[in-house]
Amino acid sequence: MTLGNASLVRLTAMSASPKKSREAAADDARFYLPVGEFFPSQAPTALTFDDVTLATQYSEVLPRETRLDTSLSDALHLPMPIISADMDTVTESTMAIGMALNGGLGLIHYNLGEAEQVREVERVKFHVHGLIPDPIQVSPEQTIEDVLRRVEDKRFSFRTFPVVDAKGVLVGLLPGRVVKERYRSKKVSEAMAPRSEVYTLKEKELGKNPIATADKFFNEHLGIHKLLVVDDKDRLRGLFTLSDIERITEEARANVRPARDAKFRLVCGAAISAPRTSAGELDRDRLLAHASALIEAGVDALAVSTAHGHTLGVGQTVRLLREKFPDITLIAGNVTSAEGVGFLAEAGASAIKIGQGPGSICTTRMVAGVGIPQLTALYVSSGEAKRRGVRLIADGGITKSGDIVKALTMADAVILGGLLAGCREAPGEIIEIDGKFYKQYRGMGSLSAMKAGSAARYGHEKSRASSAGPQKIAAEGIEALKEIAGSLDNVLAPLLGGLQSGLGYLGAHNLTELRTNARFARVTAAGMKEAAPHDVIEVKTSKA
Ligand code: XMP
Repeated sequence: MTLGNASLVRLTAMSASPKKSREAAADDARFYLPVGEFFPSQAPTALTFDDVTLATQYSEVLPRETRLDTSLSDALHLPMPIISADMDTVTESTMAIGMALNGGLGLIHYNLGEAEQVREVERVKFHVHGLIPDPIQVSPEQTIEDVLRRVEDKRFSFRTFPVVDAKGVLVGLLPGRVVKERYRSKKVSEAMAPRSEVYTLKEKELGKNPIATADKFFNEHLGIHKLLVVDDKDRLRGLFTLSDIERITEEARANVRPARDAKFRLVCGAAISAPRTSAGELDRDRLLAHASALIEAGVDALAVSTAHGHTLGVGQTVRLLREKFPDITLIAGNVTSAEGVGFLAEAGASAIKIGQGPGSICTTRMVAGVGIPQLTALYVSSGEAKRRGVRLIADGGITKSGDIVKALTMADAVILGGLLAGCREAPGEIIEIDGKFYKQYRGMGSLSAMKAGSAARYGHEKSRASSAGPQKIAAEGIEALKEIAGSLDNVLAPLLGGLQSGLGYLGAHNLTELRTNARFARVTAAGMKEAAPHDVIEVKTSKA
């Protein structure tokens, strides 16, 4: 069907900004209030995600055109505002790599022990997307039969292997076409392509954009599927495969922008606790040694993660870190008050975590009777954050993409725990129960997590958590299971899609406009029931 001239004129007229009627605007303004009017109008009732809804606004914005960029300090910019929680069932290096590749940030938890946590940060910082850093290798003395047995045992889906000597020096490449039964008695050294015929790049030739370098190489070398990377002494440092590079360039076309530092490495954050000496003082030496090692490893943000951030100990920790490391992005928390935000900002925090008790595995509100429903906590904190020029991070309680939209009307980023704990990239084994598959997800204030190291986060000592029974230390979190959720990419895609839809409905091109355009209304239990699917028999559930 083609449009006639009259229809074109009508369409053009429709796309111009609509004329506003004062009465209509007043009708809307009576019910749909900006953040600064809505939350005070509800005081002293504290509200959370499902208590409110956002009103639509005139929009010329398509969801796919929206930008989700944010920052956690003047130095740390992220293409998307999602952070994975510093919990031992959510973020280690694999999750942090996945988060950064998707444009966000992973905060590596501290239950690992300090040295292991530093190694995890290094794994993220040394990760060259597309470069397999430790490719499976064989030695020239092995036989093809040895290689075949290994392929079978480990169920490798590939059969081409770099060949290295005892010192790790590259001596050849064993091509898949010779890893066959008929050649089983041959030695690898007889069957391999010799070093002189193997395509390699030196590490320093990778440049700022290793993917583009590898892509260019494969374009120029028809039929070559493997490119090896070596150091100055010709020791094997990694392997690019054509299929990985093709997948990554495909993703780049789909507009996924990884979060990288100035040296083009993926960004990574790490949690840090406020260690105490046996006399109960802040253990300054241990804190500084830990922070220095993380910074040396290239960490982009340190997160002083505690359940109660408005305390002397957390203030001293943040102040000391800021004094010694003036340039590092410092995240601190958790607080739920304007005074708490002011206190941590004064001490030197760049971004402040808001949330006490909203988390899906948290029991702080039950155990201690303390904590604030999350949206009111964000609102109360947001004025002081603006006055002090610090960022806010909404931490906990997010169960769907709509909650992210609501949180970002006041926060610069959100932290997700439960929504990511079922991902393949989260630490932990898959558990099968009655034919269904799960991963463990536990609160860092659960007794088992505190025994593993997080007791200080809740103001306890690890030794007491290990020896004392639950009567002496009150757990503030539970141990739970999450149904497995597939890959992180697949979990994040609908969350980001929902966030972009939210921006589209509010006529917002970006997160700054989302904050300006947001208008809230209160929802009752009946309104909440109306918001979810109802009065139908559901045959397929969309989780985001
Ligand atoms: P979600 O709702 O995303 O929450 O699963 C993750 C956030 O919960 C916090 N957290 C805890 N809070 N007891 C608490 O009161 C706990 O044991 C606990 N463990 C984690 C934390 O802020 C995390 O990011």
